Amino acid sequence: MSGNIPIMTLDGPAGAGKGTVSRAIANKLGWHYLDSGAIYRSLAVAVLDAGVALDDMDGIVNVANKMDLSFGSGDTPSVMLNGKIITDRITTETCGHITSQIAANGQVRQALLQKQREFCRSPGLVADGRDMGTVVFPEAQYKVFLTASAEERAQRRFKQLKEKGIDVSLIGLAKEIEERDRRDMERSVAPLKMADGAVLVDSSDMSIDDVIAQCLALLEA
Ligand code: DC
Repeated sequence: MSGNIPIMTLDGPAGAGKGTVSRAIANKLGWHYLDSGAIYRSLAVAVLDAGVALDDMDGIVNVANKMDLSFGSGDTPSVMLNGKIITDRITTETCGHITSQIAANGQVRQALLQKQREFCRSPGLVADGRDMGTVVFPEAQYKVFLTASAEERAQRRFKQLKEKGIDVSLIGLAKEIEERDRRDMERSVAPLKMADGAVLVDSSDMSIDDVIAQCLALLEA
């Protein structure tokens, strides 16, 4: 349990800007930051490396229970899995897809629950994901559901990948994002949905600074 440690949760679909916004808020407040997607993504990498099939849920849970995962600090923190840096491997679209499939299983989610809750330490936590306000930290005092139109999210991701020199088709990307959203929203365990008491922020026509300001205003409300 988090006791009286303050928590802000930011849930929402892929590409809504949760990572950028959450990191900025955590920096500003001097709070810890949990990128729960990175934990799920790291599990996907661990599963691939272990040669476990994506439909072997017992095998996946076993990998989850054994994986030794640690995060560095900074704007793009390095991710270390079983002694190897996997930072670049977890950011690919393919990894996002595999992750979304694995993450639909309840036993897998249960295996990662404690790892996520351990991030809640004084003086506070900003937690970014799909079920932060509904399942992992339902007791959070500040809850945001951050979204943006599917077109806008695809455009943003397209731009990010282009800047990294990765060539993808915008239409293909939009399709993949919609498919991942659907799977994350329609799964029976911990689906992506707005938590009770969450504030809806649609960032489609907002600057990052405005989104950050709107989230920070919750602390003063
Ligand atoms: O936020 P992200 O794109 O890094 O997340 C990758 C996938 O991980 C996402 O499609 C669904 C899954 N995920 C999840 O099920 N629950 C979370 N709290 C975070 C991510």
